[in-house]
Amino acid sequence: MATLHTMGQQQDRRSWAEPYKIKVVEPLRTTTRAEREHAIAEAGYNTFLLRSADVYIDLLTDSGTSAMSDRQWAGMMLGDEAYAGSANFYHLEAAVREHYGYKFMVPTHQGRGAENLLSQAAIKPGNHVPGNMYFTTTRFHQERAGATFHDVIIDAAHDTRSLHPFKGNIDLDKLQALIDQVGAQQIPYVSMAATVNMAGGQPISMGNARAVRELCNRHGIKIYLDATRAVENMLFIKEREAGYKDKTLAEILLEFCAYTDGATMSGKKDHLVNIGGWLATNDPDLFEEIRNLVVVYEGLHTYGGMAGRDMEAMAIGIGESLNLDYMKSRVGQVRYLGELLDQWNIPFVKPVGGHAIFLDARAFYPHLDQDAFPSQTLAAELYLDSGIRSMERGIVSAGRDPASGDHRRPKLELTRLTIPRRVYTQAHMDVVAESVKACYDRRDSVTGLNMVYEPKYLRFFQARFERR
Ligand code: F0G
Repeated sequence: MATLHTMGQQQDRRSWAEPYKIKVVEPLRTTTRAEREHAIAEAGYNTFLLRSADVYIDLLTDSGTSAMSDRQWAGMMLGDEAYAGSANFYHLEAAVREHYGYKFMVPTHQGRGAENLLSQAAIKPGNHVPGNMYFTTTRFHQERAGATFHDVIIDAAHDTRSLHPFKGNIDLDKLQALIDQVGAQQIPYVSMAATVNMAGGQPISMGNARAVRELCNRHGIKIYLDATRAVENMLFIKEREAGYKDKTLAEILLEFCAYTDGATMSGKKDHLVNIGGWLATNDPDLFEEIRNLVVVYEGLHTYGGMAGRDMEAMAIGIGESLNLDYMKSRVGQVRYLGELLDQWNIPFVKPVGGHAIFLDARAFYPHLDQDAFPSQTLAAELYLDSGIRSMERGIVSAGRDPASGDHRRPKLELTRLTIPRRVYTQAHMDVVAESVKACYDRRDSVTGLNMVYEPKYLRFFQARFERR
């Protein structure tokens, strides 16, 4: 097994290590193949329905699964659990202002809480929302508020083999064409994600954000950022875009956010916490509305569904996420796994994104058509092989078209190996790579799944399947 633990650009072939040491350990449990056969059948071949006690290495998501630092845990003891005006809220507000630069913010229990508030406050029925690829909960709230979502990401994002350095970029011609078609007044905002989760954790460039801002300024359209993994995006800008090599992540982040009017945030990712989020804006009128709405759905505007201690941990996590050594190791660990898989020509989305390896299930199982749910199948196979848990990001996640009721058939049919922050080591990545290889070697014998239960909303979370 490769021991070369290389970083990004590959000029420096010296080994590197995680920039932290371990103070507390959580034992992992291994299972037998027979136990896993039973567990995955009980779970309806949906990895969301497995019990975590039956999972060995959990790569379901990087959401809320981070290891907090000793400083964050110390911050938890400083929780001010006052119903109103908690000191921790003011710390959080100050950290968001300092690093993201927005004037006003409300805390929310997690990202989708912020998406709900923004969608309700900004969208009117019949509106159109363009975005650089959909995200499940984000689009759901936009549609529920009466909007139609339009994917305006560049075509390269839908091509798993394209090596475009900024596959998250917005296609300005597609955006202009939509404005011409529906009219600027029907577009409450552009929904801009950095990085783009469903495209494989792919970044958007500073140049693109600036160009989108200019285009939107000409038409009086706002831009709301999904800032969930924005700091990860800033590392890619520093590495790949001219003029940013010598800037700090904090400087790059502030410039990027300045091209937008506000942001929704799932703190469960970049902020290195287990729960929390926020919604921020520079627009005083919108702020008035969301500060009022937050008390209906989340909690008072100084806690928004979070405990004081959680707001404190998040305020501290914001600072930690901007540390370059940390961020290089975070993205570097994902790349390390990619390099291992590449030795065996295993198909996955390239270039490697910020938070996960996205296996290309269409290329993995060319004999399965999309109705046999190749990504879902691969997630189940990986669990059966080793107890590693991954996530479907294909036809099941895409859901049904609200108008026609048909499956939406995304070009990308991916199985995501999502790396939690500061949780696993290189050795875990070696084990993961070997298990993926074992599944790849057996790929011809796999027959796919049938969906036997389909929930109405966000079906991927709770759908059930049977073997074909
Ligand atoms: N936006 C993006 C880009 C996300 O990845 C997520 C969550 C959300 C918004 C919603 O945030 O979960 O805090 O309500 N992504 C998780 C994932 C669930 O596994 O990719 P949330």
